[in-house]
Amino acid sequence: MSKSHIKYSSEGRVMSESFILNSEEEMTLVAGQLATKIQKGDIIFLHGNLGAGKTTLTRALLRALGFEGRVKSPTFTVMEPYDLTHLHGFFLYHYDLYRISGESPDELENIGIRDQLNQKDVLVIEWPERLKSFRSFLRLEPTIEVFIDFCELPQDAPQKNPAEMTVPRKICLNILK
Ligand SMILES: Nc1ncnc2c1ncn2[C@@H]1O[C@H](COP(=O)(O)OP(=O)(O)O)[C@@H](O)[C@H]1O
Ligand SMILES: [Mg+2]
Repeated sequence: MSKSHIKYSSEGRVMSESFILNSEEEMTLVAGQLATKIQKGDIIFLHGNLGAGKTTLTRALLRALGFEGRVKSPTFTVMEPYDLTHLHGFFLYHYDLYRISGESPDELENIGIRDQLNQKDVLVIEWPERLKSFRSFLRLEPTIEVFIDFCELPQDAPQKNPAEMTVPRKICLNILK
């Protein structure tokens, strides 16, 4: 894992960190760091394309927080809840809003996000862009933003079966609180 940049606030706190990850295992290291920064009430936006690693990061984060059960992508269920009350005193709600158009307020009521805005739990949201049309009305501002992107492979990268190939990821963590 290589660190590509780091930004500090005026009080010397780390505000933004970027890394290049060469494998899924390295995602686990970043998740471990992120886990130490999470607090009750955090709203974590995960930005990045399909297959970039948002769900992989969330799974690694839950593991780093001590959750041992199954972690599946909320692609079809929209939200998966994880009870971490015995470990950390909060639930972590994992959302995947890919299938939400963001065009009708009814959708919001259906996914129940409003019920989880209680400052006592943690929300992790894939495809937060879908919330755009609801955002002011919901006042859903992230406390942490994560951007995950594929890295360009060098021209001379060996040609392998794409299924075996691990494309490195670039990941940037912004702590906004
Ligand atoms: N460096 C890496 N970081 C994250 N995922 C990786 C990495 N290299 C390979 N992968 C694989 O890429 C896929 C990412 O899928 P997923 O986490 O479901 O993406 P998303 O939720 O962003 O659509 C997984 O199959 C994972 O094993
Ligand atoms: Mg996903």
